[in-house]
Amino acid sequence: MKRNKILVVDDEHLIRWSLEQNLKKQGYEVVTAGTGEDGLRLAREEQPDLVLLDIQLPGMSGIEVLEKIKDYDEDIIVIMVTANGGLDTAVNAMRLGAYDYVSKPFNLDELSIIIKKSLETSDLKREVARLRTETKKSVPPNIIGTSPAMHYLMAVLDKVAKSEASTVLVQGESGTGKELVAKWIHYSSNRSEKPFIAINCAAVPATLLESELFGHEKGAFTDAKATKKGLFELADGGTVFLDEIGDMEMGMQAKLLRFLEDRSFRRIGGGRVFTVDVRIISATNKDLQKSIEEKTFRNDLYYRLQVIPIFLCPLRERKEDILALANHFVQVYNKDFNKKVQGLSDVAEKKLMGYNWPGNVRELKNVIERAIILGSDDTLLLDHLPLEIVTKVAPQISTTPMINGFSLPPEGVDIEEVERELIRQALDITEWNQSKAAKKLNLGIDAFRYRMKKFGFLK
Ligand SMILES: Nc1ncnc2c1ncn2[C@@H]1O[C@H](COP(=O)(O)OP(=O)(O)OP(=O)(O)O)[C@@H](O)[C@H]1O
Ligand SMILES: [Mg+2]
Repeated sequence: MKRNKILVVDDEHLIRWSLEQNLKKQGYEVVTAGTGEDGLRLAREEQPDLVLLDIQLPGMSGIEVLEKIKDYDEDIIVIMVTANGGLDTAVNAMRLGAYDYVSKPFNLDELSIIIKKSLETSDLKREVARLRTETKKSVPPNIIGTSPAMHYLMAVLDKVAKSEASTVLVQGESGTGKELVAKWIHYSSNRSEKPFIAINCAAVPATLLESELFGHEKGAFTDAKATKKGLFELADGGTVFLDEIGDMEMGMQAKLLRFLEDRSFRRIGGGRVFTVDVRIISATNKDLQKSIEEKTFRNDLYYRLQVIPIFLCPLRERKEDILALANHFVQVYNKDFNKKVQGLSDVAEKKLMGYNWPGNVRELKNVIERAIILGSDDTLLLDHLPLEIVTKVAPQISTTPMINGFSLPPEGVDIEEVERELIRQALDITEWNQSKAAKKLNLGIDAFRYRMKKFGFLK
């Protein structure tokens, strides 16, 4: 049987040496590197199955090495080795495609298990991916939510998808699912076998946007070395998603309006008129009415775009959807990170419900992703949620005065009451894990238990 090859990248000689001895004993082939640059070179030359990569390296950082390895071959498994406490970097690494992370100082037995498991699951994943590409079909993405607002939305989307309606405007705060909705419409319509092309109007400079959308003829301007088709032409029969339309520059708005009249255009520098059949779905988180008043958005374009207007509710106005979405993302990230998390603890669920979600569904998705990466049990606890969600005291629950930073409110406070409240919150956050709670308040376990007794939390 082929032996698996492991590359160890760490600047500490002793760690490299001990890992090499240990892993060889377990039957792996091992190569080592002391810098990120060497590590990257060996990743290419030796084609290892797995890389154990220290995050803190002199010169090129572990994160940079990770990105480059993944660019080069995304199948190589990378396990990050982090200094204690570098959790956010570890989370970032997982987002960039690391399989898992271990904190220094690590236990060799635990590390062996992670390595073994990762090599097994990666074989399995490769097989699944192969089967999936064979049966890949363009299907609409999952839209989760059972609130009345979502029921209504789904009914509208269904009608829009089946209709001939050629312009749709999706409005909603950032992270409410505008792009998701656009894709759903496309992949549920009879255009689904044709292209769905998205372009972010805010990210492309105005001069370039025109050529992106309409294309150009060879020689139309200095950089136009060859004829290029624009997105409208490429998406013929399908859908173009104009994201952040509220940021489109006025001159470009006029050109878009002209195109929308009869779906015909000329490439820049060209004479021939093309006519295409594309559905235009545009989206914005801006208040376009206000932009019109401020004269940054054309009134006539607004009416042309919003033949069918769709408004997406912020998450805080449809709290019924929070837990359904959270559980959906738990399943999604279980798959991505090979975890078997069942769900959230009751207290953690309450905190999610009590939070305002300024970043809407995207924020919730990121929160769950982070929690799955950090959690090792089968239930996600408060400890795995970001501080701003955990410390949010829902006004209706709070009976004690809010501790406003560390400043003393003019009416004064009862210091004992404040102490009691902090003890309660620390217990709450850690779900009554006393040693964790003590740590949060920087107290020794005895001092903490003394206070628990004093305030009646402990008999
Ligand atoms: N109802 C939903 N069900 C499942 N996933 C959702 C839902 N709503 C949003 N999402 C997910 O949340 C993330 C953010 O959604 P999306 O990118 O569509 O938001 P957006 O409104 O375009 O945000 P922005 O204005 O910041 O571009 C995506 O990963 C999307 O899949
Ligand atoms: Mg978007």
